Amino acid sequence: NKQSLILGIETSCDETAAAVVRDGRQIVSNVVSSQIESHKRFGGVVPEIASRHHVEQMTYIIEAALQEADAEFSDLDAIAVTEGPGLVGALLIGVNAAKALAFTRNIPLVGVHHIAGHIYANHLIEELTFPLVTLVVSGGHTELVYMQEHGSYEIIGETRDDAVGEAYDKVARTIGLPYPGGPHIDRLAAEGEETIDLPRAWLEDGSYDFSFSGLKSAVINTLHNAKQKGIELRQEDIAASFQAAAVDVLVTKTMRAVEEKGVDRLLVAGGVAANKGLRKALTDACLDKGITLTIPPLSLCTDNAAMIAAAGAIAFEQGRRSDDRLNGEPGLDL
Ligand code: KG4
Ligand code: ZN
Repeated sequence: NKQSLILGIETSCDETAAAVVRDGRQIVSNVVSSQIESHKRFGGVVPEIASRHHVEQMTYIIEAALQEADAEFSDLDAIAVTEGPGLVGALLIGVNAAKALAFTRNIPLVGVHHIAGHIYANHLIEELTFPLVTLVVSGGHTELVYMQEHGSYEIIGETRDDAVGEAYDKVARTIGLPYPGGPHIDRLAAEGEETIDLPRAWLEDGSYDFSFSGLKSAVINTLHNAKQKGIELRQEDIAASFQAAAVDVLVTKTMRAVEEKGVDRLLVAGGVAANKGLRKALTDACLDKGITLTIPPLSLCTDNAAMIAAAGAIAFEQGRRSDDRLNGEPGLDL
C-alpha cells in the first residue's frame, strides 16, 4: 500500500496555516501563523485585516510546511484546502493559492469543510471508529454531529444564535477582559463560585439545538442591575456562574445525543474544547457512562491545517476531487 502525502491549507478566519500529513493520520509538519495580536485592539477579527495577513503570509507558510516535512511539490498526492465556511475574503486566499499550485503542478485538489477538519483533528490523535458523535465548539460554531462512517456528517443540533465561543468572548469583553476572552473566563471560573443564577436554554423537549444569546444577555443585565444597586460582583464569580450554565447545557445535550444515538464514542472539536470546565465535565460524564472520549490537544483544537489535510485525505481516498470551479463558500453546508 503506497503512502499518501497531503498538503493542507487553511485560511478561513485569522490563522494562516499549512501542514503536511502522511497517510491521513501522521503529522509531518504543521505551521500556523496567528494574527491575534493584530485583531486584539479591535476586540475581534477584522475581515479585511485577516485577508491582508493571509496574502502576506500564505506563500511563506506553505514553503515552511514543505520544508519542515522535507517534501517537494512532486511528492504530494493531493492538496486539501478549506473551501468554507468562514470569512469569504479570507477563504479566497487559501483557495486561490491551492488552485494555483494544484493546476500548475498537476496535483489533485480537494476542497474541505472547516468543521470536517475540526472533527478530523481527532483522527490525528486516535483512529476514528464509528458510529460516533462530535461536539463542535468554537468561536463560530456550536454543533452536534453524528457520523456513521468516514466522510458522512449529520448535524443533529446547532446553535440558533451565538456560538458558545462567541458568548464567551462577549461576556469577557463586558467584564473588561482582552480578546479572545474564552481562556480568561476559563481561568477566572476556576477561582470563583457559582453565586449568580443564570438561565439554561434547553429549548423544546428533545431538541439538540443550542442558544447562548439569552445567557449572554442575562450576564450583561445582571452586571447592569448590580451596578445600579451599587453591588460589586466578583469577576471570578461571574465567570464561574457563566461557565457553569454554558457547560451544563453543552454536556447535558451531548450526553443525551450519545445515549439516544446509541454510540460509544464521543469527540470534541474546536477552540472551546480547550475549556477546562467543559473537559472535566465531559470526562466525568463519559467515565460514568463507559463512553470513549477523545479531545485533541490545544494546538489541534484551534484552527490549523493538519486537520484540513486529515479530512482531505479521507475525501481523497473516497474519490472526491475539486476542479477549477472551486471557490470560497462562506456559508458552506457540512
Ligand atoms: O476553533 P477556534 O480557534 O476558531 C474558530 O474557528 O472559531 O475557536 C476560538 C474560540 C474563541 O471564541 C475563544 O475564546 C475560544 O475558542 N476559547 C475558549 C478557550 N480557549 C479558546 N473558550 C473557553 N475556554 C477556553 N479555555
Ligand atoms: Zn475553526
